[in-house]
Amino acid sequence: MHPLARPEPLLVLSILCAVFIKATGYTPIENRFSSIFPVKSSPNQDVFQSIYEWRFLDFAYPNYESRLAAIQNGKFISENNLPLGIDVLGNRIFITTPRWKGGVPASLSWLPLPPKERSPPLQPYPDWSAHGDPDSPDCSKLMSVYRTFIDECQRLWLIDAGVVNATIRINQVCPPKIVVFDLTTDSLILSYELPPDQVKQDSLHSNIIVDIRRGQCNDAYAYVTDVWRYGVVVYSLAKNRSWRTTHHLFNPNPFAADFNTHGLNFQWLDGVFGLSLLPPNEYNDRILFYHPMASFNEFMVSTAILRDENLWTSGADTSTVVKAFTVIGDRGKDGHSSTVGIDRQNVMFYTLVSQDAVGCWDTSKPYARKNLAKIIQNATTLYFPNDLKVDRGVEQSVWVISNRLPTYLYAELNYDDVNFRIQRANVHEAIQGTVCDPNVLGTNEVDTGIEGCY
Ligand SMILES: *[C@@H]1O[C@H](CO)[C@@H](O)[C@H](O)[C@H]1NC(C)=O
Ligand SMILES: *[C@@H]1O[C@H](CO)[C@@H](O)[C@H](O)[C@H]1NC(C)=O
Ligand SMILES: *[C@@H]1O[C@H](CO)[C@@H](O)[C@H](O)[C@H]1NC(C)=O
Repeated sequence: MHPLARPEPLLVLSILCAVFIKATGYTPIENRFSSIFPVKSSPNQDVFQSIYEWRFLDFAYPNYESRLAAIQNGKFISENNLPLGIDVLGNRIFITTPRWKGGVPASLSWLPLPPKERSPPLQPYPDWSAHGDPDSPDCSKLMSVYRTFIDECQRLWLIDAGVVNATIRINQVCPPKIVVFDLTTDSLILSYELPPDQVKQDSLHSNIIVDIRRGQCNDAYAYVTDVWRYGVVVYSLAKNRSWRTTHHLFNPNPFAADFNTHGLNFQWLDGVFGLSLLPPNEYNDRILFYHPMASFNEFMVSTAILRDENLWTSGADTSTVVKAFTVIGDRGKDGHSSTVGIDRQNVMFYTLVSQDAVGCWDTSKPYARKNLAKIIQNATTLYFPNDLKVDRGVEQSVWVISNRLPTYLYAELNYDDVNFRIQRANVHEAIQGTVCDPNVLGTNEVDTGIEGCY
């Protein structure tokens, strides 16, 4: 059963979740409750700037004839193309277009920054020849890219789920693979297919984050989420090997599987999805924060656990593994979130897909609802914010794409309307005066209610 393909009614939603994981004491790495400023109640709407927006997508074909031929033979069907992942480095933004349906000619593209036009055709990355055709698949090429991650070594990592027709009749035409491009030369560095025993029937690998310490580019680790079969695949670049990690706290919370947005009601049982990393701590370990899509909770795990291949392949000390994953709090009702980014001040930004909003959390404060704020909420411009990135610029920005995915899946997009929007805001301006500002005092009280599960 694919949550995306066939929503099923859940009859159990009215049951209160009596047994629920208690928030454990997540101790922030550092307490910076320094001064008190009045806390803003309304979001900082106007700090967001529209960068690109489209009613429908088009691609930059080499010439008029090739575009026309692609339309005539069904290789390009504009209304089947829905942008999903975004990433930014320097003067380029990267955009993914997974093959949800047929007629998606390329799955990863780029556009210039700052923008020269409002709604330009996408430029396939690195070029047209890198993209495969689902009807005669060459698995050395890109098939269906979901999301990307640009690391501090100017490399673009992507997860290619290898599935096409994900919304109609899902078809795993190629194994999922991790692909890496060097953005200084736009050349391919790595293409690593996940071994068959790490891919389950109906897996969907849809998010990736990369962990590098002390500038050791050759010792990178990638964490890839399997959102439909609830696992995280860990890949070590130095070992050129991967292993699959699983935990019950990667599962969706069935009490958070009901989504209501813009008059649409559907049920998604998507598991582990949003990922973000804190910088290395004094033990040179990094905390990974994560959440399933069908959940209002945020969780954490030490990456030392994920990176220890023996723990997962030998099954040695399972109690250490089980206890390493903990819930740190919840975002409250309808606090569904897809993806996340953390800036240099260790402030986390996250999408709130059911609220057409972006939230923030200063990770030096406890993950309590009073310590969370919304930096923007707008049912028009942020209709289903589906991917979010914090860039590595000197002045950092938070980037968000909204794409109306539920309308695309369960109703029909109106192509006279702007359907896809990419917006950005300066991270400092976005949090100014909110409780996410490290200069603003937060609460030390831990939430006691059960708002997180109704
Ligand atoms: C995708 O779905 C379309 C429409 O149902 C079908 O014609 C096409 O063969 C499918 N492609 C693959 C590779 O499954
Ligand atoms: C990495 O491993 C894969 C298979 O597991 C292999 O095909 C590939 O050649 C290896 N790459 C390098 C750089 O060793
Ligand atoms: C949403 O954004 C649009 C465009 O910036 C703006 O005109 C509108 O007032 C915003 N709505 C709210 C509720 O802020």
